Amino acid sequence: MTATVRAPGRVNLIGEHTDYSGGLVLPVAIQLGITVAFEPADRLELDAPGGEPYAAAVWDELAALGRRDVGLRGAVDADLPQGAGLGSSGAFEVAVALALCDVAGLELEPLELAQACRRAEQRAVGVPSGILDQAASLLGRAGHALLLDCATLEHRWVPLPQDVAILVLDSGERHSLEASGYADRRRELERGDPRRVRHVQTENARVREMVAALERGDPAALGPIFAAGHASLRDDYEVSTPTLDALVATALAAGAFAARMTGGGFGGSIVALAEPARAEDVLAHAGVDGWIVRSSDGAIRRRTGSTPDRA
Ligand code: GLA
Repeated sequence: MTATVRAPGRVNLIGEHTDYSGGLVLPVAIQLGITVAFEPADRLELDAPGGEPYAAAVWDELAALGRRDVGLRGAVDADLPQGAGLGSSGAFEVAVALALCDVAGLELEPLELAQACRRAEQRAVGVPSGILDQAASLLGRAGHALLLDCATLEHRWVPLPQDVAILVLDSGERHSLEASGYADRRRELERGDPRRVRHVQTENARVREMVAALERGDPAALGPIFAAGHASLRDDYEVSTPTLDALVATALAAGAFAARMTGGGFGGSIVALAEPARAEDVLAHAGVDGWIVRSSDGAIRRRTGSTPDRA
C-alpha cells in the first residue's frame, strides 16, 4: 500500500441532537479511530465488512463534486468500536473520502468534505443525521474541543482543561440509528413538538454555558450542565435508555463529577468527567468497556515513509 489515512472518532461533550436543526455542538476528536491503507486501483476494492454501502455512497457523493473515476484497493483497521455512539460511521466515511480524494488528486475543504460525508450517510442508510461526527473527525485538534455552529459552519477551538480526565463508558447496548427513533425525533422536532423543541433550545444554551465554564477554568460548573443535558435527553427528547441512565448514576457514584449520555442515544456510550487521579477507579467500578479519552487531531493522510499531512 502506498498511503494511509486515519480518521478519529469523536465524543460529543455537549450539544446533542442539535446539529440537524442548525444548533451548536462541542465534540472532541479522540485517539480511537479508523485507518485505511490504500493504493490506486481500477475499482473500489475495500476490505471492510459492512462498510460497502457507506463506501459506495461516499464514491457517489464525491463523483457529484467532480472527482475523477479512479478506484482504490484498501484495507481497513479500526480501534473505534462500532455503534458505541463514538461517530464510527462518520469516521469511516471520512477515511474513505480522504483516500478517494487522494488517489484522484482532488483537494476539498474539510467542511465541504464533511458535508459530502454527511450526505453519504443519508444516501447509504437513510439516516438524516447532522454534520457533527464528520466535522469532528476532520476538524478535531489535540488539546481542544471543537465549537461548531451547524447553521453557519462557523467554528473555533476551545482549550480543554489539563486537570480533567474525559472518560467514555460503553453501555454495550446497541441500536443502530437507522432502526431507532433518530429519524422520528428529527421529524417530531421539525413538526414543532414542544418537548423536542425545548430540548434543542436548552441544549444550545448548555453548549454556551459549557464553553463559558471551560474558558473561565471552572470545572465545578460542568457537573450541573451535564446533569441537565442528560435529563433533557431522557425526558424531553426521549433518546436515553434505562441502561444509559444507570451507567450515568454508576459513573457518578464511582467518583466522576459529571456524566451524561453521548451521541445519538438509544444505547451506546456515556461521557464522564473526573479528576485524573480518580479516572482509573471510575473505569474499574463501571464494570463495562471504557476508555480515558485523549483528544486528537482531525483526520490525517500519510504517504508510506513520509510525515503526515492534515486533511
Ligand atoms: C449521531 C448523528 C449526529 C448527531 C448525534 C446526536 O451521532 O450522527 O449527526 O445528530 O447523533 O447529537
